[in-house]
Amino acid sequence: MAIPILTPILAVSDETDPRIHSATVRERMGDVAMVIGCGDLPSGYLEFLADALNRPVYYVLGNHADELRRGCCRTQAAKPMGATDLGGRVVRDPQTGLILAGFPGSPRYGEHEPAQYVEREIWWMMARMAPRLLWNRLRHGRALDVLVTHAPPRHVNDREDPAHRGYQALRPFLRWFQPAVQLHGHVHLYDRSLPTEQRFGATRVVNVFPYKVLDLEPFPAATPTVGAPPVATGISRRTASAPASTEAP
Ligand SMILES: [Fe+2]
Repeated sequence: MAIPILTPILAVSDETDPRIHSATVRERMGDVAMVIGCGDLPSGYLEFLADALNRPVYYVLGNHADELRRGCCRTQAAKPMGATDLGGRVVRDPQTGLILAGFPGSPRYGEHEPAQYVEREIWWMMARMAPRLLWNRLRHGRALDVLVTHAPPRHVNDREDPAHRGYQALRPFLRWFQPAVQLHGHVHLYDRSLPTEQRFGATRVVNVFPYKVLDLEPFPAATPTVGAPPVATGISRRTASAPASTEAP
């Protein structure tokens, strides 16, 4: 199924931004088709966006233990109500036809955060997602459109310190399934001069910290054919946001 028109999406990550957590967000961003959370965000933030924009919300968890109750006065961690957890899953949005998949957390670098994974665990998630992705390629002409993660792939938008290295396993995943775009957070970019996206094969890998509004461009209708290359969507950046400062730890 082709996307008939430009599909604007709002992607958020890592920090609650007052420009988004605002009474005027509906006036400014009411045309987005969905909200995507890339992790390390309080549940209340995503629930606010779901209510304010009245759009579906998809998310992955970040690596921090307190993200689900941070800033929302809860004593118990709770997943955001009315939102879809993409961690280790492949989901097709019924309104836009976009196919989304996600990987949560970050590579393991310490013992104090619960959502950290060794590469073997990411490979296991990939193995469980592969049948659905291959079916999508046969049925829709592409495995997926948007990969949502908290951490970037290794050596793409990541850093060399142990806490901000990316997943090595995402590199073969991108080569095999070729999503049009990967959205991630985890690497806090406060310096506007630093690049926020890189191309990896057919995929544009975008760091959305703290938020971005992106227009997914339509792709031609695909005729599902065994062995045919996937048809990728394009993506253009409508607005980007990154406060000027230095990189956060
Ligand atoms: Fe993180």
